[in-house]
Amino acid sequence: MAILKINPVEQVLLPVNVEARVCFVSISGIKGMNDILPGDVETWQFLENKAREIFKSYGFSEIRVPVVEKTELFCRSIGETTDIVEKEMYTFEDKSGNSLTLRPEGTAPVMRSYIEHKMYAQDPVAKLYYLGPMFRYERPQKGRYRQFHQIGAEVIGIEDPRIDAQVLAMLVHFFEDAGIRDVALQVNSLGCPECRPGYRKTLVDFLEARLDSLCEDCRRRYQTNPLRVLDCKAAGCKEATVDAPSVLDHLCRGCQDHFSQVQTYLGLLGTPFSINPRMVRGLDYYTKTTFEMVTGSLGSQNAVAAGGRYDGLISDLGGPSLPGIGFAMGLERLVLMKGEERIVPSRPHLFLAGLGEEASRQAFVLMSALQRRGVHAEMDLAGKSLKAQMRRAGKLGARFVLILGEEEISRGVAQLKDMDAGSQEEVRLDGLVETLVRQFSLEG
Ligand code: HAM
Repeated sequence: MAILKINPVEQVLLPVNVEARVCFVSISGIKGMNDILPGDVETWQFLENKAREIFKSYGFSEIRVPVVEKTELFCRSIGETTDIVEKEMYTFEDKSGNSLTLRPEGTAPVMRSYIEHKMYAQDPVAKLYYLGPMFRYERPQKGRYRQFHQIGAEVIGIEDPRIDAQVLAMLVHFFEDAGIRDVALQVNSLGCPECRPGYRKTLVDFLEARLDSLCEDCRRRYQTNPLRVLDCKAAGCKEATVDAPSVLDHLCRGCQDHFSQVQTYLGLLGTPFSINPRMVRGLDYYTKTTFEMVTGSLGSQNAVAAGGRYDGLISDLGGPSLPGIGFAMGLERLVLMKGEERIVPSRPHLFLAGLGEEASRQAFVLMSALQRRGVHAEMDLAGKSLKAQMRRAGKLGARFVLILGEEEISRGVAQLKDMDAGSQEEVRLDGLVETLVRQFSLEG
């Protein structure tokens, strides 16, 4: 019987006779950070392409910003007392002692870039979209990860409520076109620096009278970030805030008017929505319109997309006083929602099976010529038997198999087998590339 020994690296029991291999123990990925594998990646690509296609028709251009920024950018924009800044950021010092952070979201970096490149000098109006990884040190669970991906869109420089409605209509358009159902748009208004302080004070007073029922977290933050209490999942907090004052009853004239126009335009565009006055967002930069696309099918991670207006953010970050509005969708959540409706990887158009050395050589050259013309062609390069090659073609799901034998080659022909129909016909090698390109409708 093998004697077992603890491997200090992996803390697993290994037989002593495999000790020599301990240094080759496989290294796993980081908790909450996932690989996106072939078979899944097709759904990601479908959603990314769909977003690009739709955003383009609304006049958005892509912007790419680094995944690392100065920590201060996120503290100043997202807010010091938010969960993201307090607990969830991947912050580290670089070798020069600068505090850097892996971006937990995309809006602040995009605004930083807009300001830094003085994009407003040419045209204060900018419509930008981005996609890429974001990082938050949250407790991983289904739909919540530490590296996750967002597709986001931002409009800078337009205050008119029609743009709020248009951004929301674009978001809904994306969900419809991407075939993601079971989502509903909820909207709210969080007011502005004129009316929010009054509401905040009313809410703090309300919470103060119920402190005993609040969870520890909320007792700590009810003064610094009282709106978050409305979003707390603890049963006691939920119960204590059932009759909390509504932000919508405390909006100033301007915010009321803006919110009512947003609703009118959403109606005109035929975009269905409901109002959720208890919706608060986990980032401090929001003013006026906020919104979420929520679903019932992802448990507690029910926001598939979220966003809102941030009219003070650009000036808070040292830029001109310009309004902004945008959203971000969580790609992992979108992929989960596509569920069974996954995009299947494309099947090879053709598998080339060669019998003998000369036939294999010709098949190899033919495969390359076909690939250059956009035909998805495959062949076996391990010199296997015809039977094994046919098995491989079946495994790959090839639509057709082209069988090249020595005798056929000498006659300038090959056998083309239709794998779905099971039929087989003799085809001329001369002009075969053209015929196949036409057959697979890749040109013209
Ligand atoms: P957010 O609500 O923090 O907003 O995130 C937007 C979306 O990202 C969420 O609705 C969710 O789908 C996804 N998401 C967030 N955290 C995770 C996570 N840990 N794992 C998986 N998915 C996640 C923002 O980030 C704002 N920048 C949105 C915005 C753009 N507002 C204005 N412009």
